[in-house]
Amino acid sequence: MYILGIESSCDDTSVALLDCSDDGFVVLAEKTASQVDVHKKYGGVVPELAGRMHAENILPVVEEVMNEWRTSIGDTEKKPDVIAATTGPGLITGLLVGAEVAKNLSYLWNVPMIAMNHIEGHIHSVLLRSSQEEKFQISNFKFPILCLIVSGGHTELVLMRDFGDYDLLGKTRDDAAGEAFDKVGKLLGLEYPGGPKISKLAKDGNTKAIAFPRPMMDSDDYDFSFAGLKTAALYWLRDNSITTIQGKHVSPPFQGGDQEGVKHNTTNSATARPPLTPPWQGGEPQKVSLPDFCATFEQAIVDVLVEKTKRAAKEYHVHTIILGGGVSANPKLRTELQIMIQEMPQAQLLVPSPQYSMDNGAMIAAAAYMKAKKKEFTEWQDVVVNPNWEVYDK
Ligand code: KG4
Ligand code: ZN
Repeated sequence: MYILGIESSCDDTSVALLDCSDDGFVVLAEKTASQVDVHKKYGGVVPELAGRMHAENILPVVEEVMNEWRTSIGDTEKKPDVIAATTGPGLITGLLVGAEVAKNLSYLWNVPMIAMNHIEGHIHSVLLRSSQEEKFQISNFKFPILCLIVSGGHTELVLMRDFGDYDLLGKTRDDAAGEAFDKVGKLLGLEYPGGPKISKLAKDGNTKAIAFPRPMMDSDDYDFSFAGLKTAALYWLRDNSITTIQGKHVSPPFQGGDQEGVKHNTTNSATARPPLTPPWQGGEPQKVSLPDFCATFEQAIVDVLVEKTKRAAKEYHVHTIILGGGVSANPKLRTELQIMIQEMPQAQLLVPSPQYSMDNGAMIAAAAYMKAKKKEFTEWQDVVVNPNWEVYDK
């Protein structure tokens, strides 16, 4: 079954054409137009700009994918069997663009359409393999499955009892893990998105340099909270200093741009609160290297994610754990989950190939295959986007 997948829920316009079967998924053509260079000037995704960029990019991207596929099979009129587009959750400005293009193509080509949930796409991203790797058969999905979805907009533990059958076990009550990475990256003066930059710097760092909290790690539920950790990082940067490798002290940009030494008389309203006596500060300000800061911050996030995943996997006796979403590219998180799974002989860990960790059209097509088999199509006239669509809501 040939499926065209369209993803535009955040800042990537991504389209892919897949050959899908129970024996595996072959990506025949794919193209992503990233908007990172535009948004990084603002330190995060600007929804209005994202919508405009999606509108500019989507038709050339669809055309390129279709041309590549049609040329490869020598049939310039060939149409896919199904068109799938992300219709939620995400930014309404982007969702509308992808959904409208898919609706138009569905009407013009007379091809059935599937409205896909973005989180369901991330879950199915583990089915995709780079061309050299052995194909992944869907029978390898051993239920029940625990899905840890961590991205810039989401941090959720979802129990998947079967294809299309989801229960939410817990989610973040405030910031998503990727959002915390990105916001702290911004405090450090790193370019958006900060997650990949922090994880790269963290590779050479000491994970115990700072006593960062592990928010909600021991709470009696599967919810998360990362806003407090982000604030702890903000206060630490206000009260202490980062040293460069040469031993020079630098203060982050929000402290007024002073690049040497810590400035305590800040004017930024977020930092102008009364001084705290946080656990890391035994009177004297700390001096910590940037890699150590990043490694400690990353470790705090990973500890909470792994601990809650471990507990849920045991409670629900799952046979598979799926890691998905942009933060699944984080090597520390991958390694710690791999270590955790060794203690669970009944369970397997599935992670996406790095190229399919971030938002992509291929994962939308792969997830749509399961629905197409059951003929769960939506007439193009009835497709509505829903920025808050939860994966467990039908
Ligand atoms: O799934 P995704 O592409 O978009 C959303 O649906 O949000 O995820 C993007 C998020 C960003 O917050 C980015 O900083 C984070 O994934 N991310 C990482 C890493 N690579 C991407 N976070 C931590 N470590 C990484 N290596
Ligand atoms: Zn995503």
